[in-house]
Amino acid sequence: MSDHLTRRTFLGTAGASAAGLLAATAAGQETTSDQPAGRLKIVGIACSPREPSTTAASVQVALEAAKQVAPEQIDIELIKLAGLRINGAVAAGVPLEADERDDFPAVAEKLADPAVAGLIIGSPVYFGNMSSLCKAFLERLMVFRRDNFAISNKVAGVLAVGGARNGGQELTIQSIQAALFCQELIIVGETRPSAHFGPGVWNNKDFAQITDDEVGMAAVQNLGRRVGQVARLVARTA
Ligand SMILES: Cc1cc2nc3c(=O)[nH]c(=O)nc-3n(C[C@H](O)[C@H](O)[C@H](O)COP(=O)(O)O)c2cc1C
Repeated sequence: MSDHLTRRTFLGTAGASAAGLLAATAAGQETTSDQPAGRLKIVGIACSPREPSTTAASVQVALEAAKQVAPEQIDIELIKLAGLRINGAVAAGVPLEADERDDFPAVAEKLADPAVAGLIIGSPVYFGNMSSLCKAFLERLMVFRRDNFAISNKVAGVLAVGGARNGGQELTIQSIQAALFCQELIIVGETRPSAHFGPGVWNNKDFAQITDDEVGMAAVQNLGRRVGQVARLVARTA
């Protein structure tokens, strides 16, 4: 293989625009394929309105698995939407009430960080689909689509937690994925061996804690690994 094919250009940060990539290349941020890329951040969003939350605990497990892909390179952060006020109608141009609290901008600022290479979004299943808080959050992501797809090319994985073994987790996951496609995110499922559509976790009332769902947790870890792996691939080849 010729020398130029064995060398790759790495972004110092992930999710950068093409202009950013060109600028980085021009600045000489080039390294060989066996050298680590810059630091990458994977952010988890837990869309349950309550605390404690089995969804938040599951997203945390996925984040830790993502970090294990490359502990020296990957940072993780869990954002819990519980207690936050996010009004989805703002995305449609409906103004906030005069004294209405809006916690979305602070979350958006974290997502816009160019170091954020991946997202792991988790929702409880409510009547076969995502929570209203999750839907409001996804609607407010419109701000990124309108801003030249500002979170384009970040990697995204989705999980859902239901009180029934088959309570609508897959439909919930696919509904969230559908919204994320509209942001030009790179949607992934789990890596091997489960390698399916995203983990459906079972909050069985007989479990002492959600991590007792061994099948679900294995899939959650496979999702986290896949997000970490693909985030690194994108950072190397963008
Ligand atoms: C309004 C409501 C609707 C629900 N609908 C479903 C459902 O359709 N399918 C299901 O499996 N569980 C359903 N559940 C159970 C929750 O998905 C389950 O308790 C989940 O673990 C809650 O997540 P959390 O602990 O992160 O809040 C529902 C719970 C609520 C409050």
